[in-house]
Amino acid sequence: MKLLLGVLCLSSALGLSVSYPWMKGHPNITYDEMTKDHQHPIIAGFPNRCDGLGFDAITLDELGVTYFFRDEFVWKGFRGPAELINKTWPSLPGQIDAAFRMHHKNSLEQHDRMFFFKGNEVWQYYGTVPEGKFLIHDKFPGIPDNLGAATECPVGECGMDSVFFFKDDTVYMLDLITNTVKEKTWSGIQHCTAALRWMDRYYCFQGTNFTRFNPVSGEVPDGYPKDARDYFMRCEGRGHWSKNRTSADSIYNRCSKRPFDEFNEDELGRSYAFREGWYFRLDTRRDGWHAWPVNSTWPSLHGKIDGVFSWNNKMYFIQGSQLFIYKTGALYTLIKGYPKAVSTELGIHSTDVDATFICPGSSLLYVIMGNQLQSVNLEKAPKVLGSGFRISHTHVDGAMCNASGVYLFVGTVFYKYDSPDQLATWLNKPVPQNIAQHFMSCPH
Ligand SMILES: *[C@@H]1O[C@H](CO)[C@@H](O)[C@H](O)[C@H]1NC(C)=O
Ligand SMILES: *[C@@H]1O[C@H](CO)[C@@H](O)[C@H](O)[C@H]1NC(C)=O
Ligand SMILES: *[C@@H]1O[C@H](CO)[C@@H](O)[C@H](O)[C@H]1NC(C)=O
Ligand SMILES: *[C@@H]1O[C@H](CO)[C@@H](O)[C@H](O)[C@H]1NC(C)=O
Ligand SMILES: *[C@@H]1O[C@H](CO)[C@@H](O)[C@H](O)[C@H]1NC(C)=O
Ligand SMILES: *[C@@H]1O[C@H](CO)[C@@H](O)[C@H](O)[C@H]1NC(C)=O
Repeated sequence: MKLLLGVLCLSSALGLSVSYPWMKGHPNITYDEMTKDHQHPIIAGFPNRCDGLGFDAITLDELGVTYFFRDEFVWKGFRGPAELINKTWPSLPGQIDAAFRMHHKNSLEQHDRMFFFKGNEVWQYYGTVPEGKFLIHDKFPGIPDNLGAATECPVGECGMDSVFFFKDDTVYMLDLITNTVKEKTWSGIQHCTAALRWMDRYYCFQGTNFTRFNPVSGEVPDGYPKDARDYFMRCEGRGHWSKNRTSADSIYNRCSKRPFDEFNEDELGRSYAFREGWYFRLDTRRDGWHAWPVNSTWPSLHGKIDGVFSWNNKMYFIQGSQLFIYKTGALYTLIKGYPKAVSTELGIHSTDVDATFICPGSSLLYVIMGNQLQSVNLEKAPKVLGSGFRISHTHVDGAMCNASGVYLFVGTVFYKYDSPDQLATWLNKPVPQNIAQHFMSCPH
């Protein structure tokens, strides 16, 4: 589709979050490859993605590779030269209008498929295998021809598994469960030439500019539009990562030996590793890795976290003497009146909490301080911290519990126990295992 220059109407007032360093391409692309100062190879006769002309469409595939399309060319991943589209997808036309990867858990024959749009037609592919060509009004009734952009929105982020289609100043939201289309006009999200859901974040590209938006309200956080060349690709002399990063490098590099402060999984299956005011999402590893500031997802939260756990559809953070509680939904919302004192809220009178965990289906919160494991029943009032058990670790950084057992994180390793009881009674430690390898998909 054509680039619409100078017709933007962007609200830059509302919302959450910043977009941050180290866009990761394929899970195979290591941190080092992405951050080394090499440019995209440029091949004569092929365009350079850093030329500022933007993209016709952007989508991921079923392996988590991100593709950027313009004219008859495609760029694979966040670095690498242009190739002809028809080298990978021989029957696709050049200059596609839009593309997206379907998330549709109720329709496994469409789930994870890529859809490419041009004019009044849509092509369905599973990876590089063609699965059909359709008219848009047959395949997606209610969606117009000649689209600007499209992207998926899974349940949890939208109310139901859905797809956003963008054309001119209208957003068409197709609910895949009820097959109904709702039209929206979002002032910040108009004339998208390409759209992308990356991890759980939503972006509308207008040429080389991009704007993040909230998939439920359409709100745009402060600071947009930004230039894709600083975030989604390596371009000479550009990139927010070229700013001074020496001091923070080991924080953003998920494979560095720097310890993590805490781990947690919420009731919606989202799992996180926290490190010094930043977090990594673990369950979206297929699509890549990225360190985000914690306040971009949990408003008002900054810095190192001592304890985190999920209970009753809420996420709890302990930081020194303070407790933050967030309602768990598509977004996390800080409950009014918080932060409050951990002592009055949980009966924990120390500011030396090292880690906390709660096992699924239980109301017993475990608190680790030094080599002491104590628990408090969240359903009882007043909350009183029970007497301690000595564990065989003098210090832990973080802890979490799921249906498989209890995980304690210490430096670069973790220890797995079958249950809190086993943790309280074991005299020896289980075999240490590598956090980077098991949790962060690092080579070693
Ligand atoms: C997060 O905190 C940083 C400063 O630490 C601030 O610049 C940024 O605007 C905050 N972001 C949000 C969404 O509050
Ligand atoms: C790269 O990723 C693909 C898909 O996840 C996997 O099949 C392949 O084994 C990986 N290759 C390497 C070298 O890790
Ligand atoms: C692929 O696309 C290029 C550019 O549009 C065209 O010149 C070439 O003939 C196409 N190749 C095939 C096999 O269709
Ligand atoms: C990109 O955004 C900047 C403002 O940040 C604006 O001046 C520029 O015109 C935009 N470019 C395009 C191609 O929309
Ligand atoms: C980069 O950060 C280091 C450590 O924080 C500091 O010593 C150095 O002066 C900074 N360099 C620039 C160019 O800001
Ligand atoms: C518990 O978490 C570990 C580590 O992320 C994971 O390997 C395991 O599959 C999880 N167990 C369940 C039942 O989800």
